[in-house]
Amino acid sequence: MKKASLVVMISGNGSNLQAIIDAIQAKNLPAEIKAVISNTREAYGLERAKQAGIPTTIKAKRKDQDREQYDAELADIVKTHQPDFVILAGWMRILTMSFISAFPNRIINLHPALPGTFPGVHAIERAWQAYQNKEISHTGVMVHLVPDEGVDLGPVLAQKVVDIYPKDTLEDLEKRVHHCEHELLVETIHKTILQTEENNA
Ligand code: GRF
Repeated sequence: MKKASLVVMISGNGSNLQAIIDAIQAKNLPAEIKAVISNTREAYGLERAKQAGIPTTIKAKRKDQDREQYDAELADIVKTHQPDFVILAGWMRILTMSFISAFPNRIINLHPALPGTFPGVHAIERAWQAYQNKEISHTGVMVHLVPDEGVDLGPVLAQKVVDIYPKDTLEDLEKRVHHCEHELLVETIHKTILQTEENNA
């Protein structure tokens, strides 16, 4: 089976990147991470990539740059790795079409909420608060394509409910959501690779 080439983009801890690395090393994911790109040198995920022998690039936006210029430069960097898929795993910048249009149908984003709920940042915290206010009974995780500049809005590839319990602290919920993310992201990348192989066969 041909290995799919991935570029993984991060901004922080990189626990989702680690889940992909572990799945590949355990031969549970027919893929190869060609590079890890971060928009900040502070991302611990860069350390995880180095431990796994994966090339890393830090591409921070310069103050004098506009978003489109930065995104076009970012796309040029990612293009050099010729990825089959670009995985946004804890990537915290909103991407413009000057990045997105370079990888049609090939950008996969993970978001720690169900489709149509809590788009944007602090999704887990907002879900936990909504539960305290008895507005929701559960939350979830979704993995979706990024066809345009809609934030956490693209065609859903997979979603999974995450339960919330009365005694949950925010940390309890975060742990449960991240555990679900790690599984769902790897599963969905695998499914998408197989689907693409089938379509191209
Ligand atoms: C995750 O909930 C991710 O979906 C969000 O940031 C959190 C940390 O992700 N964008 P990671 O540990 O950096 O992969």
